[in-house]
Amino acid sequence: SQSNMVKVACLGAGYVGGPTCAVLALKAQVQERIAGWNSNELPIYEPGLHEVVMQCRGKTLFFTTDIKKAIQEADIVFVSVQTPTKKTGIGAGVASDLTYIESCARTIAEHSESDKIIVEKSTVPCGTASVIQTILKANNPKGLKYQVLSNPEFLAEGTAIDDLMNPDRVLIGSNTDAGGLEAAQKLKSLYAAWVEPSKIFLVNTWSSELSKLAANAMLAQRVSSVNALSALCEVTGANVSEVTRACGMDQRIGKHFLQASLGFGGSCFQKDIQSLVYISQSLHLNEVADYWRQVMTINDYQKVRFVKRIISRMFDTVTHKKIAVLGFAFKKNTGDTRETAAATVVRLLAQDNANVFVYDPKVKEDSMLFELRQGVSEQEFQQIQKKITHSKSVLEACSGADAVVICTEWDEFKDTNMNYEEVYKVMRKPAFLFDGRLIVNASKLSKIGFQVEVIGSAS
Ligand code: NAD
Ligand code: UGA
Repeated sequence: SQSNMVKVACLGAGYVGGPTCAVLALKAQVQERIAGWNSNELPIYEPGLHEVVMQCRGKTLFFTTDIKKAIQEADIVFVSVQTPTKKTGIGAGVASDLTYIESCARTIAEHSESDKIIVEKSTVPCGTASVIQTILKANNPKGLKYQVLSNPEFLAEGTAIDDLMNPDRVLIGSNTDAGGLEAAQKLKSLYAAWVEPSKIFLVNTWSSELSKLAANAMLAQRVSSVNALSALCEVTGANVSEVTRACGMDQRIGKHFLQASLGFGGSCFQKDIQSLVYISQSLHLNEVADYWRQVMTINDYQKVRFVKRIISRMFDTVTHKKIAVLGFAFKKNTGDTRETAAATVVRLLAQDNANVFVYDPKVKEDSMLFELRQGVSEQEFQQIQKKITHSKSVLEACSGADAVVICTEWDEFKDTNMNYEEVYKVMRKPAFLFDGRLIVNASKLSKIGFQVEVIGSAS
C-alpha cells in the first residue's frame, strides 16, 4: 500500500537521475521527487523514456524543486548529480569536480529530520562515499543515522531504459559493518522488484567506486585498441571489421564493443579515465596512470587522423569546399553531444576553411554550438562559427557538397534506409563519402559513383 512504500528522493535530474527514477517508479512502486520533468517535452531524449514517465508521473513519480520536502519525506536519497572534470585549479583537466556532490551532502544534512540511506549514483573518485559520510557526521545536531552506499550506474545513453530494466548487474558498495550491510540489503530489496537477486552484487565501498571507473576505462580501452588497429589496417590492406570479427569470435575476447570509429565521445569515458589517471598519479602509481592515459591519447589521435585523411583525399585542400557532416551526437539514439568526436571533426574542418553543414536528427543548433565552443577561445569560436551551418535535412546539407562525412551511426544514414543516389546527384563531383562509423556498404556506394573512404580499410 501507499503507506509502507519506500520513499526515494533523487538529487539531479539529468541523463542518469531522470531515467533511473522513472524505471524505479515503474518497477519498484516508489515515490520520488526531482526537479524539472513535468512538461510533455522531456529535457532529454531516450527511446522508451517518454512512455515510462507518462505512465508513472503524478502517481509514483514526482518532479519537484522542493528539495527540502523531498529529502524530509525520503527514506533513501539518490545522488545523481554531475561530476565533471575540473576546468581550473589543481588537477585541472584530470581531477573530478566534486562541488555538486559536496553540495548535495550539505543539503541532505541541512534538511534531514530522520535516518537516511544516501545512495551515490554519480560516478566518483574512490573515497567519495566516505567524504559524504564525514560531511553528514559533522553536521548532525539531531544525531541521525546515515548510511552512505555506492551504487554506480552502468546505463548507456540511447539504451538507458532497456539497460535499467535488464541490467547485467546492480552493484552495491557499503561499509562492511552491520549497519552498512543492513542498508545494502534495503537497497537490494528495492532492485529485487525486477532484478534477479543473483545479478545484485554486494561489495565494499571502495571496490564499488573503483569498479565503475574500471568498467568505463576497460570499455573505452577496447575502442582505443580497435581504433589503433584501424590505423594499421588502413596502411596494410587489412580490414578492421574482419579483424575485430575474427578476434571477437574468441569467447574470451567477446564480440561486443569492438566497433571501430572516428573516436569515442560522451560525457563519461574521457572524464572517468582522467579520474582514474588522477587517482593513480596521486598515489604515485605513475606507470598505471600512463597506461590509462594512453587510451585517451589514441582517441585524440583517431579523431585528428580521420580529419587528416579527409583533407588529404580531397586533394589536400578543403578551403571553400562544402562538407556535409551527417550526425553530431556522440552516438545514435541520443541528442547528447557532450565530448562528441564530431565536434573535433567539425572544428578542424572549419579551421581549414571548409564550409561545414551539419545535419543530425536529434541535435538542436544551440547544443551543437555549445559543444563546438568547448576547449577553444572565444575568438577562435567566432571564426569557426562563421563556417558552420545547422541543416534541417540530409539533402539540404549535401546539396552542392564535395563530401559527406558520417560522424554518428544513425540508422537513417545506412545505405539500406537512405537514398544515396539522390544524394550523389545533388553533390559536386568528384563526390567523396567518408564513413567514420562503418555503416555503409562501400562497394554499393562506389558503384553509384562515390569515392568512398571507410575507417579501418584502405581506399
Ligand atoms: P547531468 O548533467 O545530465 O545531470 C545532473 C543534474 O544534476 C543536472 O540536471 C544538475 O542541474 C543537477 N544538480 C546539480 N547539483 C544539484 C544539487 N545540488 N541538487 C539537485 N540537483 C543538482 O549528468 P548525468 O549525465 O546524468 O550524469 C550524472 C552522474 O552519473 C555523473 O557522475 C556521471 O558520470 C554518471 N553517469 C552518467 C551516465 C550517462 O550515461 N550520462 C551513465 C552512468 C553514470
Ligand atoms: C558508457 C558505458 O557504456 C556505460 O556502461 C556507462 O554507464 C556510461 O558510459 C557512463 O558511465 O556514462 P555511453 O557513454 O552512454 O555509455 O555510451 P557507449 O555506448 O558506451 O558509447 C560511448 C562512445 O564510444 C560513443 O561515442 C560510441 O560511439 C563509442 N563506441 C562504442 C565506439 O566507438 N565503438 C564501440 O564499439 C562502442
